[in-house]
Amino acid sequence: MIKVDLGGCRQFAGNADYQEYVSRARRALMTLDSGTGAGSDFLGWNELPSETPNELLDQCLAVVDDWLAKEIELIVVVGIGGSYLGAKATIEALSHSFSREMNLTAAPQVVFAGQTLSEEYMAELMDLVYMKNTAVVVISKSGTTTEPAIAFRLLRSHLESQYGAEEAASRIVAITDASRGALKGLADRNGYRTFVIPDNVGGRYSVLTPVGLLPIALAGFDIHALIDGARQMQRVCDTPDENNPAIKYAAMRNLLYASGKKIELLTSFNPKLVYVAEWWKQLFGESEGKEGKGIFPASVTFTTDLHSMGQYIQQGERHLFETFINVENSRREEMIEPDQENADGLNFLGSTNLEHCNKMAQMGTKLAHVDGGVPNITISIDQIDEYNLGQLFYFFEKSCGLSAYILGVNPFDQPGVESYKKNMFALLGKPGYEELSEELRNRLDE
Ligand code: PA5
Repeated sequence: MIKVDLGGCRQFAGNADYQEYVSRARRALMTLDSGTGAGSDFLGWNELPSETPNELLDQCLAVVDDWLAKEIELIVVVGIGGSYLGAKATIEALSHSFSREMNLTAAPQVVFAGQTLSEEYMAELMDLVYMKNTAVVVISKSGTTTEPAIAFRLLRSHLESQYGAEEAASRIVAITDASRGALKGLADRNGYRTFVIPDNVGGRYSVLTPVGLLPIALAGFDIHALIDGARQMQRVCDTPDENNPAIKYAAMRNLLYASGKKIELLTSFNPKLVYVAEWWKQLFGESEGKEGKGIFPASVTFTTDLHSMGQYIQQGERHLFETFINVENSRREEMIEPDQENADGLNFLGSTNLEHCNKMAQMGTKLAHVDGGVPNITISIDQIDEYNLGQLFYFFEKSCGLSAYILGVNPFDQPGVESYKKNMFALLGKPGYEELSEELRNRLDE
């Protein structure tokens, strides 16, 4: 079960102030659960785990079976932002770090497209696609996002020329809005299998819908356990109790923010969690960063980044706090044994496992950074598996909703994301953007 430890904040946050923020978090919980806050049309994620029917999981697993029967070797998942990061985070966290090099898994390889406009990335991905028996999952709630639309164009064209239109259609699944959007129309016209992203679930809150579930199942991971973990966390996060972990986390991060700690570093001691941090950054960045407000979400992986960012964190500007993801149990063991020569001087370790060293590094870092003026929140999970990731996703979603309400912003919109799109369309020459195109070109020529 997720535990939130605020011991590393004690010297930065007085108890009376913390209790005040707990009260705000409890009010935020009431607002969120009663659907009376800003953006309440997008609260579908709140009850999603308990309302996910087993049939939906079975439908995802039916695609897995169909594509295994076709001996699909490569699945390209096309999407960006919330339509990409949850699946990427889960697959990266659960995969053996060297599964590809070792040919370890019977499941097809899952790769991602549409999350970048880099030509080199896409060309290299197409090199792989040409070599492999391929299928595609295209994900876009709006169905109009440029990056995935471009990637899907290229992939669809390849599948149709390689396998013919009918077979290509059986190798494409579209995950999109129930009734609107260009992707829905395309899927219906071509007979693609489709899954629905519920109207009331926004992109960055969609990892527990087919957006995350299908790619995760295709990569060979247990989506039942993922949903079970989320269900358990849904129950825990529903209570107005001050020990509700989402209340604790939302209250403390807002109190720290109010005291001038404007940047939150999500920190783990396990490179498997790098993309969990990317998912978390999108969730909190897009939900809170608006109206001139919001904690800036950043991330580091230790001990790796202690040798790059460690200096700044210890002694740079004091506008940071850290949130550690502490993984209680390693799923693998590597013993370090005494060595006769002891050239590295490490025999004082005796006979111990590597995770013990990692844990001591973690504790030492926490104390050093707290001494250096960086408050520490520690979020503990039992181990990295589907069940615990399900818990973590739901916990962060709930905390994010509460946190944004405490901050006084709508957690479920993203008006700022449109600005770059308008400029990009204008510069690409999209009809209707002529005036803006001229204005931007003049500015670029200045
Ligand atoms: O959280 C969000 O709403 C965004 O990050 C979207 O997920 C992202 O922009 C992709 O949108 P779409 O799924 O409509 O292509």
